[in-house]
Amino acid sequence: MVTGLVPARRKGEPGGERKLSDSQPLSPKCLFASGAVLSNSHAMKILVIGSGGREHALVWKLAQSPHARRLWCAPGNAGISQERLAANGHPVECVPIGAEDLTGLLQFAREQRPDLTVVGPDNPLALGVVDLFREHGLRIWGPDQRAAQFEASKAFSQAFMERHGIPTARSGVFCDFASASRFAAELGGRCAVKADGLALGKGVLICRNMAQADAALEEVLVKRAFGSAGDRVVIQELLEGTEISLHALCDGRTAKLFPTSQDHKRVGDGDQGPNTGGMGTYSPTPFVSAAELISLGRKVLDPWLKGCAAEGIDYRGILYPGVMLTKSGPKVLEFNSRFGDPETQVYLTRLENDLLEVLEASVNGTLEGVELRWKEAASVCVVMASGGYPGSYPKGKVIHGLDAAAALPNTKVFHAGTAWKDGTMVTNGGRVLGVTAWAPDLPAARIAAYAAVERITFEGAQFRRDIAAKALAR
Ligand code: AMP
Ligand code: GLY
Repeated sequence: MVTGLVPARRKGEPGGERKLSDSQPLSPKCLFASGAVLSNSHAMKILVIGSGGREHALVWKLAQSPHARRLWCAPGNAGISQERLAANGHPVECVPIGAEDLTGLLQFAREQRPDLTVVGPDNPLALGVVDLFREHGLRIWGPDQRAAQFEASKAFSQAFMERHGIPTARSGVFCDFASASRFAAELGGRCAVKADGLALGKGVLICRNMAQADAALEEVLVKRAFGSAGDRVVIQELLEGTEISLHALCDGRTAKLFPTSQDHKRVGDGDQGPNTGGMGTYSPTPFVSAAELISLGRKVLDPWLKGCAAEGIDYRGILYPGVMLTKSGPKVLEFNSRFGDPETQVYLTRLENDLLEVLEASVNGTLEGVELRWKEAASVCVVMASGGYPGSYPKGKVIHGLDAAAALPNTKVFHAGTAWKDGTMVTNGGRVLGVTAWAPDLPAARIAAYAAVERITFEGAQFRRDIAAKALAR
């Protein structure tokens, strides 16, 4: 088994040169395994699926590749449509095909023949877009439907973790209210009740007593609040500690661990109010040392890779474990089978490699010879959201100040919910912008991100003022 764990490069450590094992065959399939063998004549057409801040970050980084000669995003957003390719100045083209319209995506890809399709969100992965494209001879990056179960079924993930000794919360999987309630009672009602399937990020209910646990179980199993996603529930003991996001790029045999990051899921300062898709992130987390990151990889990724090998799961894509650092060690809360949003925004503003090359290596099974290199910098992303989010919110509010923010150094404003209306940029979603800045250290990155946020206005805009503050207070 190969783990290939590479922690973030530390100050003073050598880095920069790429490693390609001498035994690595230079077949056409692995031409992109090392930048050393890639020439600019490898012109590529790329299709990115998705429309959020994560996809803007993916497009922005892919557009910097000297190999990217044409880039489409389906369906994309207004910010994505403003990107241009570094190689030839061509604009990125947004095509009006939804991320879950597999028929439309396939038809487009069969007509345009992208050399690589990159999948952003979880839903198309769970629907089997990777399997479908492969059946038609189209190269695509992301886990296939079986591998995507790590996110699409929490019951699958929980059972896998238990089979393979991956540290996780004490848990049970249930289909009926009575046995679920009995298990919740064994935990004193302090538990997380999770709908098994995909539920737009809303399927986890945190309970602190039996009344809340029974109400949550009633909601999922009886009232069917999440439809068939709630056919089964996973109940986990409630874990206390610090939550972090891990990301690892995988090629079926090797997993390359990214530096750590931390999301801020609650809508309000001080982690108050309802859960959201994520209101801001930063990377790295200063409270996890390089040695601790290696240890996390050994505890989580080694058994995960072994388990995948034993069960014949060929995982090519990003594995994103949500991890709670508890007093009794790290415990995996869940696995996601895609890049986090807004984790991607802080990762890709730190990644030095050509993203296209590393995604190629992930598809080709040649990641072992690739070294991921990260800027000696911290990155902070502050999400600006529509008033009312994560509840209902208005759309069509004019956004001011984007040019002023873009003029700041080491700053990138990623768009999530934006659209063009009569030539003007307007809001078009709950999370609107991911204002991201990087600097030599976390305090400076934080100041820079908020300096950019201060330049941007739209009616009803809300954002947290404490992104990364907890890390600095520790
Ligand atoms: P998940 O989608 O499973 O990551 O859950 C959403 C959020 O609920 C996580 O990011 C945690 O903040 C919280 N959560 C999930 N499981 C637990 C648990 N067992 N204990 C405490 N908090 C949890
Ligand atoms: N940052 C949370 C998520 O992507 O699920």
